[in-house]
Amino acid sequence: MRLAASVLTLGLLAAAPAPAQAPDAALLAGACQGCHGVAGEGGHGIPSIKQQQTRAEFVAAMRAFRGNERPNTVMGRITRGYTDAEIAALAAHFAKPE
Ligand code: HEC
Repeated sequence: MRLAASVLTLGLLAAAPAPAQAPDAALLAGACQGCHGVAGEGGHGIPSIKQQQTRAEFVAAMRAFRGNERPNTVMGRITRGYTDAEIAALAAHFAKPE
């Protein structure tokens, strides 16, 4: 009985979600660099996102794409893959320093 309880407890522990961690901005930014350039400088028809906007403006742009409120070709699909916390981390990475 005690063994069964221990096994059950272990199973529950293993199923517990990992503790929340701050998103890794550099890792997330890697998904943007293929189009926007390594530093976000843009080019070839892709807008620069390198310190073009304040963080608030950057977040607003990303959320507008995600909600399909802003016309786009690819950013709607891309932004739907990101949480608000990840968008905030990307804003800290690419937007104007505060
Ligand atoms: C497949 C190429 C591609 C990738 C990958 C990509 N973007 Fe974009 N991005 C674009 C294009 C093209 C636009 C112009 C809007 C549109 O047509 O979707 C844009 C627009 C933007 C804008 C608005 C810029 C402005 O001047 O208002 C922001 C902010 C942005 N992207 C951020 C990101 C971030 C952050 C990532 C990574 C998570 C990313 N993009 C990944 C192609 C891309």
